Amino acid sequence: MRIFIDCDPGHDDVLAILLALAHPEKFTMQGITTVAGNSTVRHVTDNILKVLDHIGVSIPVAMGCARPIRREPEPQPAAHGESGMDGPSLPEARTKADARHAVTFLHEEILRQDAPVTIVALAPMTNLAILLETYPAVRERIERICMMGGSLRGGNILPRSEFNVYHDPEAAKVVFGSGIPIVMSGLEVCAEAKTMLRAFEPLKSGGRVSRLVYELMNYYSGYARARGWDYTNVFDAVPVAQMLAPELFSGSKYRVEIETEGDLCRGMTVATPCDGAESKGCVTILEHADGARFSALMLDALRILDAAQPD
Ligand code: BDR
Ligand code: CA
Repeated sequence: MRIFIDCDPGHDDVLAILLALAHPEKFTMQGITTVAGNSTVRHVTDNILKVLDHIGVSIPVAMGCARPIRREPEPQPAAHGESGMDGPSLPEARTKADARHAVTFLHEEILRQDAPVTIVALAPMTNLAILLETYPAVRERIERICMMGGSLRGGNILPRSEFNVYHDPEAAKVVFGSGIPIVMSGLEVCAEAKTMLRAFEPLKSGGRVSRLVYELMNYYSGYARARGWDYTNVFDAVPVAQMLAPELFSGSKYRVEIETEGDLCRGMTVATPCDGAESKGCVTILEHADGARFSALMLDALRILDAAQPD
């Protein structure tokens, strides 16, 4: 499967990318694009370039939109630190980002493929909305969008709104209205795909990739520990895990509309079950996950990547 990952790394974004990298038999990663979300677009771009250098992986990275379509950026230092990926101290990356803007990069690279591609969207969908509006013909070349964002009932930034959709609701509205098949990993399935904090401890004495993940999760888990939780969500890894092992997940079809206004409801994904008669425009929302097997998939991926690394 040819994939492009649009993201804002972001501790959990990095885990999602590592999970995909561990499975070249399944995924051909054609590029990574970045967008303002967890931190500034400059920071999140630097973060992923540093990670890729550290693990010796060469994939084009293109920096995208510095702000949502109509709103001010709202970085999330409480969860991810000022850099968007606090924790590990990695040297500056030697590799530079692609000279093209992420939207141009996606347009040119998607059209260059000889088969339709899958977009994995792990961040506010500003780049994707601008891509679809500027180059409508590209829709035909996108087979599916597998995204982390939204919710059926819960919220993590407002009582009923998830961060990625909240951050750029106008962008989410464009993407959800595009008619491209969407698989949505919202907060409910991510809550079932949680990982116990104790599972990260042994990574401290693992290989190069495991040690990096230990440092990432040691910082990121601080948010959970401060709340007395013995687990953490690894949100962005969920859509990648579902593409890799769909049998671990279940969900249903919904019509999804995006609320763009309101102090209480901005970014809410309003989902109505599809009755089956007309499924066009319906979104698959994942609802349940086998949490233990999800965690095992993540840890296996780290072992695979460690084995391919010098120490
Ligand atoms: C989402 O918001 C970000 O903080 C995470 O990286 C994830 O994409 C979870 O709501
Ligand atoms: Ca993210």
